[in-house]
Amino acid sequence: MIVILGAMDSEIAEFLSVMEQRETLTWQGIEEHSGVIDGHPVLVSKTGVGKAMAAMRTQHFIDKAQPRALLFTGLAGSLKLHIRIGDTVIGRDLVQHDLESKVLGLPRGQIPFTDIRFLVPDPALLESASRYQPAEGRVHLGRICTGDQFITHREMVSHTYLHDELAGDAVEMEGAAVALVCSLNQVPYLVARTISDMADDDAVADFNEILPRASHNSLNLVRHLLREL
Ligand code: ADE
Repeated sequence: MIVILGAMDSEIAEFLSVMEQRETLTWQGIEEHSGVIDGHPVLVSKTGVGKAMAAMRTQHFIDKAQPRALLFTGLAGSLKLHIRIGDTVIGRDLVQHDLESKVLGLPRGQIPFTDIRFLVPDPALLESASRYQPAEGRVHLGRICTGDQFITHREMVSHTYLHDELAGDAVEMEGAAVALVCSLNQVPYLVARTISDMADDDAVADFNEILPRASHNSLNLVRHLLREL
């Protein structure tokens, strides 16, 4: 069983459109769909937005399905000028950018009393994802920074650490939480994002505009991964 998650309905809609033998259950008010995509048994659901929802639902699906792999897709803001709207960023590693305990002498993103800071996905999934050829845009392997804030130009002025301390490539609101839960449960995972905006003044408008195209890109990427699994 492969678990495929995204934060919002619009980020998983394309998976549902190609799913066969679909059965739907509801848990805590959120629908979860089991079925088959391209011959592979899959479970598809949204997590809800933010790190807490993503962590809770990731654990739920691991307990329920004991998946062979968990794939998380959706949108992200770019933190680099050369990473453009429509490009794909595969999380080479992921970090919780708003986890900050400097007074304890720890670098940003490190979970206190552990050595966990940058979470590294499954090497085989990363390798396979790096061979993905999208219909549009380029593929980047990069650092995904996760936090409970939607970043626009206003936040970039106060969140300079996304560049300075973390050297981030993309910013979103769930990936590192999913990565943490998967890695603690030793479940192979991958987080892949389509760039929806440049985390600037136009971020909200760009985000809404690209949603349909981005979900199609996520579906193509997941189909590529399923073929290679
Ligand atoms: N997801 C997509 N764009 C984002 C942004 N600018 N900030 C946080 N999460 C996002």
